[in-house]
Amino acid sequence: MIPFNFSIRLLKTAAEFAACAALQREIWGLSEADSMSTVTLHALAMDHPQPGLLLGAFADDEMVGLAVAFAAFEPQTAYGHMLGVKPAYRDSGLGHQLMQDLHNRLKMMGIKFFYYTFDPLESRNSHLYLNRHGAVGVTFKPDAYAVSGLMHGGLPMDRFLAVEDLASPPPPPPLALEAVLAQCPIATPDDMPEVEAVLIEIPADIARLREQAPAAALAASQTARILFSEYMNRRGLVSHALVRGQVQGQPRSFHLLGRRTGTTP
Ligand SMILES: CC(C)(COP(=O)(O)OP(=O)(O)OC[C@H]1O[C@@H](n2cnc3c(N)ncnc32)[C@H](O)[C@@H]1OP(=O)(O)O)[C@@H](O)C(=O)NCCC(=O)NCCS
Repeated sequence: MIPFNFSIRLLKTAAEFAACAALQREIWGLSEADSMSTVTLHALAMDHPQPGLLLGAFADDEMVGLAVAFAAFEPQTAYGHMLGVKPAYRDSGLGHQLMQDLHNRLKMMGIKFFYYTFDPLESRNSHLYLNRHGAVGVTFKPDAYAVSGLMHGGLPMDRFLAVEDLASPPPPPPLALEAVLAQCPIATPDDMPEVEAVLIEIPADIARLREQAPAAALAASQTARILFSEYMNRRGLVSHALVRGQVQGQPRSFHLLGRRTGTTP
C-alpha cells in the first residue's frame, strides 16, 4: 500500500532528535516553545532506565513520520504523546505502520494498556485509532491543551482520552453507516435521547472546513463539545467506533457511542 520505500527505527542520534523536533513543528504548526526540546528527546531515548520510545519513519534519509510514547507510573501502562506523518505522506498506511511498530515494542516490554489523547473531530484520526487499532474513547477533555502555534486554527483543543488493551484481538471491520443509522439515533444539542447507543456527528473533513468555513468549524466543535460532555462525561458512554459513509452523495462521519465493555482500567 505504501508507494515509497520507508523504514521505521528508534531515534538515537543528536541529528535525529533535531529532525524529530523540527518535524513536530512542521506537522502540528507548533512554536519552538511548544515542540519538544532535543534535551528531553535525548533523555526519553535512554536505554536504561527507559523513560520513553521515540520512533522515526524514514523515506530514504528523510524523516517523514514520528511517534513518541512515555512510560507511565501505573503498572503495564504507557502513554502515547505524539503520532504524526508529513502531509505529503498521509493516507499511505504510514501512520498505521508506526502505531503497529509501537504496539509490538510496547508488548515486548510487557505493556498492556496504551493511553493517548486525540482530536475526536478529526475523522481520519478517529478511524485510525478506534477502527484500525481498537482504541476506546473513554473520556472527553475540553481544552486539553493550550499551545501558542497555529495547530488548531483557533478552535479549542478538545480531546478524547483513549485506551487500547494491547492484548485484545484486532477490531472487527467498520460497520456500514446505513445499517447503524437504521438502529441508532443521532444526538443533537436539542435532542439527547436516553439510549444505550447513540451517534454523534463530526465533520467528514475538519481540516478542510477549518480552512474554507472557519465559523462552521467552530460551530461543529461547540456542538460536539456539548454532546461528548453529556454522553461521555455525564452519562458514562464511550466511543467505540467511527462510522462513515455517503448520505445522498455527501460524506458523513459519526462517533458511535455505547456502554463500556472489556477490561481496560
Ligand atoms: C493521524 C496521522 C498520523 C495518520 O497518518 P497516515 O499515515 O495518514 O495514516 P494511515 O494512512 O495509516 O491511515 C489513515 C486512515 O484514515 C483513512 N481516512 C482518510 N481520510 C479520512 C476521513 N476523512 N475520515 C475517516 N478516515 C479517513 C484512510 O483511508 C486510512 O484508513 P485505511 O487504512 O483503513 O484505508 C496523520 O494524518 C497526521 O500526522 N495528522 C496530523 C497530526 C495528528 O493529528 N496526529 C494525531 C494526534 S497526536
